Amino acid sequence: MNIVIINGSSRKNGATAKILKEISNVLNTYSNMNIQLIHLSDIKMEFCNGCYSCYKTGTCFIQDDVEQIIELISKADGTIIGTPTYESNISGQLKVLADRGHFVFEQLLHQQYALTVTTFENYGGGAASRILNNLMTYSGATLSASIKKKILFNENPLDAVTKKKLQREVRRFYLDIEKRKIHPFQWVKQKIIFEMGIKQFVYKKAAKYTGIFDGVFKHWENKQINFKHIQ
Ligand SMILES: Cc1cc2nc3c(=O)[nH]c(=O)nc-3n(C[C@H](O)[C@H](O)[C@H](O)COP(=O)(O)O)c2cc1C
Repeated sequence: MNIVIINGSSRKNGATAKILKEISNVLNTYSNMNIQLIHLSDIKMEFCNGCYSCYKTGTCFIQDDVEQIIELISKADGTIIGTPTYESNISGQLKVLADRGHFVFEQLLHQQYALTVTTFENYGGGAASRILNNLMTYSGATLSASIKKKILFNENPLDAVTKKKLQREVRRFYLDIEKRKIHPFQWVKQKIIFEMGIKQFVYKKAAKYTGIFDGVFKHWENKQINFKHIQ
């Protein structure tokens, strides 16, 4: 089972990282796990410059580490993303990764399972968590579990209750992947968003501007998504 864990915090040993490392430890107690933990603070990542050339070609022309990470995420069975709450939102780094990877349009997490972690200190953790959860489900993943942890800066988030909760939620995530479990409400919501929202928008625009979405169609084809190719 291939799992990618992304730490969206600037800190490699902060609360988010500690929770993600604990999740990795729990996952490692199951057999056949291939886990990669990536700290966004370690990678070279430019902002998206909004040129839309990736829509046409399927890849971003900027030469940094992002394409490699997007490729890893795209091939995983499950993706775990953790973020601290910054201004009642996900971290800037994580937002840049999502922009650069065109998570939603490319359906980067199609048929994957997701687990999210959001840490916060005071207020806005719920909003940040919802934003992250929507990012995962709009990108095609089934959200197996979402963990929110309120914790004072530099305090250890791994108390006994949290550790127990992590074990439970990680098990749910693992079993969802193993059994390819369908969550009916999420399934219907995703169908509506993708079939009636994203696809229809793409079809309309692709019919007007030749070749504009060839790169997006290439990604959908690779993911065996059913669509009509408009050239
Ligand atoms: C720039 C910045 C903005 C923040 N904004 C919020 C916020 O809106 N709400 C909140 O509860 N905590 C906020 N925090 C606190 C962090 O979310 C919290 O300390 C988090 O657990 C840090 O995670 P880390 O240790 O993994 O970096 C902010 C911290 C920073 C550095």
